[in-house]
Amino acid sequence: MTTAASLLPRDTRLLPANRPAAVAEAARLLAGGGLVAFPTETVYGLGADAANPAAVAALYAAKGRPAFNPLIAHTSDAAAARRLGTFNRAATLLAERFWPGPLTLVVPYGGGNGVCELARAGLGTVGLRVPSHPDATALLKAFGGAVVAPSANRSGHVSPTSAAHVMTDLSGRIDAVLDGGPSPVGVESTILDVTGEIPLLLRPGGLAREDIEAALGQAIARAGSHDAAAPIAPGRLASHYAPRALLRLDAQQVEAGEALLTFAGARPPGTEHAAAVLDLSPSGSLTEAAARLYGALRSLDASGVPSIAVAPLPPAGLGEAIADRLARAAAPRPAPSQPEIPQ
Ligand code: TXA
Ligand code: MG
Repeated sequence: MTTAASLLPRDTRLLPANRPAAVAEAARLLAGGGLVAFPTETVYGLGADAANPAAVAALYAAKGRPAFNPLIAHTSDAAAARRLGTFNRAATLLAERFWPGPLTLVVPYGGGNGVCELARAGLGTVGLRVPSHPDATALLKAFGGAVVAPSANRSGHVSPTSAAHVMTDLSGRIDAVLDGGPSPVGVESTILDVTGEIPLLLRPGGLAREDIEAALGQAIARAGSHDAAAPIAPGRLASHYAPRALLRLDAQQVEAGEALLTFAGARPPGTEHAAAVLDLSPSGSLTEAAARLYGALRSLDASGVPSIAVAPLPPAGLGEAIADRLARAAAPRPAPSQPEIPQ
């Protein structure tokens, strides 16, 4: 399969994950170099055989993703992940404590051809994750090897938390979507670089920083730069997860014609004029808010409003990941002459 061939339209099949035959078919498609979206506990991923450079090239093409942004390799269990990298003390401890689950560990690569160079964007490190979603585990087991999987959205769009979201973005560009219902966590995995002495938080996500710090017994540093030039975190430019509508963060009031995205029942002045109101969690649960975030952005965007006022959210726990995604969604869009490097 060449990259050019990969751009030919594909007939995208919707496979129900509760049928073993469908999971076997999805694994067969992956083994043949195909592209299969599948549910994980965080968001839906777009899977390809990590060891197959042609399949990985097709994946980059289907997403419209620059090939210098590396992919996360997913395995069915921690033992398989450990064969792909070198685990120091912190990496070992975190893998034992949090896998399977919404944590990606960046470690020195040591897996031979298990994750091809294109998938690693030529880096000497690899991002590894063992998802906890039973349908992801079943697929990874049936396939046998590592599967690279970025979020199954067109590059720069909001990440998908349902099979329908995936179809909206990628129908006609990939071979199948394994439908396992909504992703329960709703934001991507937390990415931690554990190659150095001090673990570095590259991306806040579905596992709260506080949980990692408690397990390690030490504070972790946050990688400050979302600059494409920062070699440690390629592809993490500010503007990501972008809906079409503009986002106004920490809004203290709602302007006429705006939609309101709010939390815990907060109704800022002007709410009565809002074009639409969506409360991420009326009961004030950040877990529920994370699970509903991307669906909320998609539906407010689909309502056609020019701007979304976002009420303040608490910053602790999963609030850090939610704030990160909202900040990226609100960031200035790159000019056409400076193409974005999306995730
Ligand atoms: O929850 C998730 O992590 C989802 C599901 C499908 O597993 N995947 C996901 O993948 O969010 P993606 O490709 O959308 O985001 C992966 C991020 C990118 O920002 C990439 O630059 C970073 O991980 N990354 C991957 N390998 C890396 C490495 N070796 N060093 C630093 N950053 C890395
Ligand atoms: Mg992504």
